[in-house]
Amino acid sequence: MTAQHPLLEVSSIAGGYGDITVVRDVSFTASAGRITAILGRNGAGKTTSLRMVSGLNPISAGSIRLGGKDVGRLAPHARTAKGIAYVQEGKRIFRQRSVQENLMLGSYPLRIPRSQVMKKVEEAFDRFPALAKKRDVAAGLLSGGQQQMLAIAQALAPGPKVLMLDEPTTGLAPAIVGELFDLITRLRDEGLAVVLVEQAVDFCLSIADEAVVLNLGQVVYRGDAKSASTRGAVEATYMGVELA
Ligand SMILES: Nc1ncnc2c1ncn2[C@@H]1O[C@H](COP(=O)(O)OP(=O)(O)O)[C@@H](O)[C@H]1O
Ligand SMILES: [Mg+2]
Repeated sequence: MTAQHPLLEVSSIAGGYGDITVVRDVSFTASAGRITAILGRNGAGKTTSLRMVSGLNPISAGSIRLGGKDVGRLAPHARTAKGIAYVQEGKRIFRQRSVQENLMLGSYPLRIPRSQVMKKVEEAFDRFPALAKKRDVAAGLLSGGQQQMLAIAQALAPGPKVLMLDEPTTGLAPAIVGELFDLITRLRDEGLAVVLVEQAVDFCLSIADEAVVLNLGQVVYRGDAKSASTRGAVEATYMGVELA
């Protein structure tokens, strides 16, 4: 793989729910050590696109390549094992299970022995000391911010190359939002390819490298996250202006 060759290449994918196509011709890339922001109004197709990349929804057209290899038809657990992690919208954790059990489940798709799973759990606790203090606590009793950290820690447990985050800061207190963005930039600096869907647009563009704007299930803009034209495209889309 060369620098010209992004780690994750999503090319012209289409899909939706059952017979209903809600996303068409969506393309974006994610590269090691970079953040790709995916923006767009509610219902634009952001979650559906991430679900298709993770394998939770099938694609009816296009391709998904990881390190140049087609992964677009693999089952979700196989994509996780190959290095694609997806933190779903709304802190999807097992609320009745302990923090430690949640982290153990993160490595389940790897089908590795328990001793190795526990090694990954300890690595997660090293990275997230606040979670280590609550390892035996039911996940549902954590604060909203800690639940989101747990969801991310769980996704990181298998050692992914690509981390897709779907609205990680929604519903969290401003102080925690800052903490989460610090974590995301740290993960980027460690070499992860991050795909970030966020409602906190300013924050998102301030840390992202590339921006992809969706509207009505299609890409209406792709560009440098820091450029003025990207800012204009995002504002226009959120205000409901159709881009040519
Ligand atoms: N489970 C579902 N069944 C049918 N349609 C859905 C389902 N989930 C989302 N949709 C539709 O798909 C479109 C895109 O939704 P979504 O990907 O969730 O958008 P976003 O994440 O950008 O808010 C919307 O029109 C939404 O109504
Ligand atoms: Mg969504």
